[in-house]
Amino acid sequence: MAKQQTSSRVGFFTESLIREMTRVNNRYGAINLAQGFPDFEPPQEIVDWAKQALDEGFHQYAITWGSPSIRKAIADKFGWFNGVEVDPERHVTIVCGGTEAMMATMLAVVNPGDEIIVFEPFYENYGPDALLSGGKPVFVPLHQEGDSFVFDRDELRRAFNKKTRAIVVNTPQNPTGKVFTLKEMQYIAELCIEYDVLALTDEPYEHIIFDGLEHVTMAALPGMAKRTVTTNSASKTYSVTGWRVGWTIALDETIATAIRRIHDFLSIGAAAPLQEAVAKAMYMPKSYYAELAAGYQARRDSVVSTLRDAGFECVTPRAAYYVMTRYPDCGYDDDLKFSHFLSEKVGITPVPGRAFYHDPALAKPYVRFAFPKKLDTLERVRERMAKLHEFRK
Ligand SMILES: Cc1ncc(COP(=O)(O)O)c(C=O)c1O
Repeated sequence: MAKQQTSSRVGFFTESLIREMTRVNNRYGAINLAQGFPDFEPPQEIVDWAKQALDEGFHQYAITWGSPSIRKAIADKFGWFNGVEVDPERHVTIVCGGTEAMMATMLAVVNPGDEIIVFEPFYENYGPDALLSGGKPVFVPLHQEGDSFVFDRDELRRAFNKKTRAIVVNTPQNPTGKVFTLKEMQYIAELCIEYDVLALTDEPYEHIIFDGLEHVTMAALPGMAKRTVTTNSASKTYSVTGWRVGWTIALDETIATAIRRIHDFLSIGAAAPLQEAVAKAMYMPKSYYAELAAGYQARRDSVVSTLRDAGFECVTPRAAYYVMTRYPDCGYDDDLKFSHFLSEKVGITPVPGRAFYHDPALAKPYVRFAFPKKLDTLERVRERMAKLHEFRK
């Protein structure tokens, strides 16, 4: 009998549904509200800094842990914005995007059989990340309560046990737009301390927060500095998802060293000239971050009103740039079929809910829209979405 050509670990998960929907979108020439990337330019000065770095000769490998300039810039910003002092020499590692940041972290801290708690619905990478590192994801539901998503404290407590190695805390959260409150974060921290568990945080939307809410940094909470690995990226804050510059911050040096060892053999390093440009971006004035949030809040208001007018039910996202919705009855009771229908017949592509749930049955009523788009694009979405009435039952 012929040998199986692929490893068994490839069979643990399927290809990314989010990225697949981008291909579906292109087939129908629709507006892509599936994958979370801006259709507008990053700030011009950031692009100029990248060009300058090319002219200045940053063409070879940077130091594997990241160039000194970006590690220092990240440490400075983690101090003034997140309130935690870190040493760029020991605690900060530059990697290829938030994607490598979480993967390298899990490979560095998870042993076969370890359990990793993940709030559901969740950003789709965490399932494969956990499985590839030999761990077992354990899902804790976020429940809709009025116009927000909350977790049940007892349900969360029951998920912790002797096998639990880590909990993934993605705040602000994709896909729900939830901002974990200080009380929620403190409760998660208490459980981490009680059960000797690590918090692996994923914070790429820390600057995209609306309605006066505030980001809570797990590493800044009492007792959590050495128990947390913070992962983050330039992708969303500076509108450069294609640059692939991310980082991990681990105050526990054994963990930081383990992450560096994994990262070295995964990718050696992120693009050297882009590290230099992101290093400079970290010193953008505070007004930049305020304008970023205000711009996204206006987009949030536009897209939520379009969706509600068209019959979608949505919990108002308080952050990030996604909205999770229940779609109206157009004769489909399946998230995948509804998503293809919307892309083909209405010209707008969402992501089927199943991308964010471990069990597709739980996801059937949901699709997610991403709104990092120009207001003009969102106006075209409003015009196209008006057509949906023709198909409603
Ligand atoms: C919650 C979350 N984490 C990580 C990522 C990946 O980020 P990066 O482009 O930096 O790899 C995304 C991208 O959408 C995300 O939403």
